[in-house]
Amino acid sequence: MEEKRNGLRVILFPLPLQGCINPMIQLANILHSRGFSITVIHTRFNAPKASSHPLFTFLQISDGLSETQTKDGPSPNVMSLLAQININAESPFRDCLRELLLESKESERVSCLIDDCGWLFTQTVAESLNLPRLVLCTFKATFFNAYPSLPLIRTKGYLPVSDSEAEDSVPEFPPLQKRDLSKVFGEFGEKLDPFLHAVVETTMSSSGLIFMSCEELEKDSLTIANEIFEVPIFAIGPFHSYFSASSSSLFTQDETCIPWLGNQKDKSVIYVSLGSVVNITETEFLEIACGLSNSKQSFLWVVRPGSVLGAKWIEPLSEGLVRSLEEKGKIVKWAPQQEVLAHRAIGGFLTHNGWNSTLESICEGVPMICLPGGWDQMLNSRFVSDIWKVGIHLEGRIEQKEIEKAVRMLMEENEGEKIRERMKVLKDEVEKSVKLGGSSFQSIETLANHILLL
Ligand code: UDX
Repeated sequence: MEEKRNGLRVILFPLPLQGCINPMIQLANILHSRGFSITVIHTRFNAPKASSHPLFTFLQISDGLSETQTKDGPSPNVMSLLAQININAESPFRDCLRELLLESKESERVSCLIDDCGWLFTQTVAESLNLPRLVLCTFKATFFNAYPSLPLIRTKGYLPVSDSEAEDSVPEFPPLQKRDLSKVFGEFGEKLDPFLHAVVETTMSSSGLIFMSCEELEKDSLTIANEIFEVPIFAIGPFHSYFSASSSSLFTQDETCIPWLGNQKDKSVIYVSLGSVVNITETEFLEIACGLSNSKQSFLWVVRPGSVLGAKWIEPLSEGLVRSLEEKGKIVKWAPQQEVLAHRAIGGFLTHNGWNSTLESICEGVPMICLPGGWDQMLNSRFVSDIWKVGIHLEGRIEQKEIEKAVRMLMEENEGEKIRERMKVLKDEVEKSVKLGGSSFQSIETLANHILLL
């Protein structure tokens, strides 16, 4: 039932990436259900579909990107593009926000701005206009807590990692292992330092930090976040337990997945998807294809167009391989992921462990095979495999034999059954948080009251 409006409007500003737009639109729905009116400011690039959200007002600002820069569609070279937009969008954003505040009425005051932790200019703009700002972090709190120490970790001399030390925990950043570090930093190295510093500074100056997480998943990290950033913390996730991510999809979802799953046996299908930004080489793609084919398990595989480097879609597969894959599986360009994971036919998820995907899998009780691509995914996958023990880590080995072995182990063997049982326990724990009186549910109330008093 629609709640009464409370006379306050919240301005939201998502980072233009699928993994960041989904949580922001879900947050919009959560706040709207608590009586707040919602305006979403967004860039032209990866603009959310306004028509899918008739209850919200959408305002587009210029991002200064050229056609060439966005030629790869919704999944561009993320870091360089974000750096560009962080420069280009400041002035249009300031103008747009100023205009909104001028138009703000007595009957509906603009109470605050909530934007992604990846925006670097919004705190200064909000302060200059006297508007409180809250930060939305779409990463696990444990990862965000490491932002202040990542530059130090990088210079500690852990890299390059010798074989004998590869599996050692990073003392400043457990349960991350030393072998994970090179993929956390990627090619950026010291260039990341000013970005990390700016994110930490602007978060510390904000009026609060919102996580799509909950105490059941990371109580200690949430306490530490409060100590590090010295602002009120609101852990109100998993967001999609309240509102689905489907409506904010930037890609067209292939709905034929659902009837296809309807023809499969319970827990017999492995779902494979590497999210919206991870790319793989043609060799890796072929190894995954052969591994899935040789496993003789049914699979639903999302191959995002352009995600195989140098290929448009699946043309590197030979006709023979396509025929053998089609015997047991289905390949699509983009799936209604939340619906897929909730389907009774799904028995496992080979994932890149983006935080959204990881949470969606936990909430549906689907055990995982971890193939993280970089950044926070390296930590999420360690939690899945080493701490919660609800998945099998491929340790970066994108080789057909390894993939076949992991798929068989998860779907057919005793070990898979044990993982599934542990996942059921974790799912039940997290489910408690979003029920009436649960930690996430209560934090939503606290957040709503916090905004009312800003
Ligand atoms: C990025 C980062 O990679 C991730 O690590 C960070 O936590 C958020 O930003 P992305 O790689 O896209 O996100 O991964 P993820 O966080 O899993 O988000 C992907 C979203 O797209 C999920 O909500 C998922 O349900 C959705 N999705 C994915 C689909 O709807 N269909 C698909 O076929 C694949």
